[in-house]
Amino acid sequence: MAKRIGILTGGGDCPGLNAVIRAVTKHAIISYNWDVIGIEDGFQGLYEKRYQPLTSGSVRGLLVRGGTILGSSNRANPFRYPIKLPDGREEVRDVSEEVLRNLAELELEALVAVGGDGTMQMAQGLLERGARIVGVPKTIDNDLSATDFTFGYQTAVEIATEAVDRLHTTAESHDRIILCEVMGRYAGWIAMAAGLAGGADVILIPEIPYRLERIVSAIEDRKAKGITFSIIVVAEGAKPLGGESAVAVQGDLTRQEKLGGAADRLARELARHFSEHDVRVTVLGHVQRGGTPTAFDRLLGTRYGTGAVDLVAEGKIGQIVALRGNTITSVPIKDACGQLKLVDPRGELARVARHTGVELGA
Ligand code: F6P
Repeated sequence: MAKRIGILTGGGDCPGLNAVIRAVTKHAIISYNWDVIGIEDGFQGLYEKRYQPLTSGSVRGLLVRGGTILGSSNRANPFRYPIKLPDGREEVRDVSEEVLRNLAELELEALVAVGGDGTMQMAQGLLERGARIVGVPKTIDNDLSATDFTFGYQTAVEIATEAVDRLHTTAESHDRIILCEVMGRYAGWIAMAAGLAGGADVILIPEIPYRLERIVSAIEDRKAKGITFSIIVVAEGAKPLGGESAVAVQGDLTRQEKLGGAADRLARELARHFSEHDVRVTVLGHVQRGGTPTAFDRLLGTRYGTGAVDLVAEGKIGQIVALRGNTITSVPIKDACGQLKLVDPRGELARVARHTGVELGA
């Protein structure tokens, strides 16, 4: 019987996932003559035994497609799994034994788990109970410490930058202060990159809690120079000094809290200070996660996919592929968990921002 590998995509989707699925499938078939099984909706499909064979035919044309053809779930943690009861209520159970049993039944050489910090923590838990898993890092937030870049991030930055460009012309025409809220739960990489590339006047990120008075005085300085509009890029996790990130929906045992409202909160404060201006908010939301990946993200996804298959071939179970400089390498999954890569408030990007007159709020 031919050897077999499996692949699943967990957590929030992002552009480039399909490039990984395609590369894993092609490399496994072309170079090793292995069979490939796609597991649907992340660890949920492993629990519910929902699989599909992946062939050269089924991954054709995938490079340009956003999302993930396998589907994903960000609630299917095998160790805290939400089970629907007959009366409609939900009960949280540890179903890791069932998941491990289903995995063993598949007789995989290894499972390629593509995901962010949450998915890697689940993978690590299963690895410690004997599963054979290799990882591929994924998140548009680019906040995984294991790697210099995750695919999806660059696509999100392109989309956010284009939005900032477009907001500029309309803000200028109407003398408006426009806030553009971008994704970035704990890390402000997207806000920082799109804000700098788009020439924002103020960039607010979770790593630098802001003081309202600094933002007000940055806008006043512009007005004193005769510039009557301003663009503020706000990461969704941005918070005032001494305050918290704006939460739209509280989380629970199986669900992360939903952030939302960071830009609205600040806009209300600014409207009080600048009553002569219209203060408007644009929230980009999931637009940043959808659609065609950039060439960089397709290439990175393809490199990660082939790298992951090589890890399996080399017996490097428990490793996650990573980009260091321009080289694909790997690190233990356990080292990639729980430690986020944040924007350094005194690092190069923050300095570049300050040196070009961008207000960072503190
Ligand atoms: O982690 C990636 C991310 O896009 C964050 O920037 C954002 O906070 C979160 O996912 C949103 O997740 P969901 O789509 O589940 O609301």
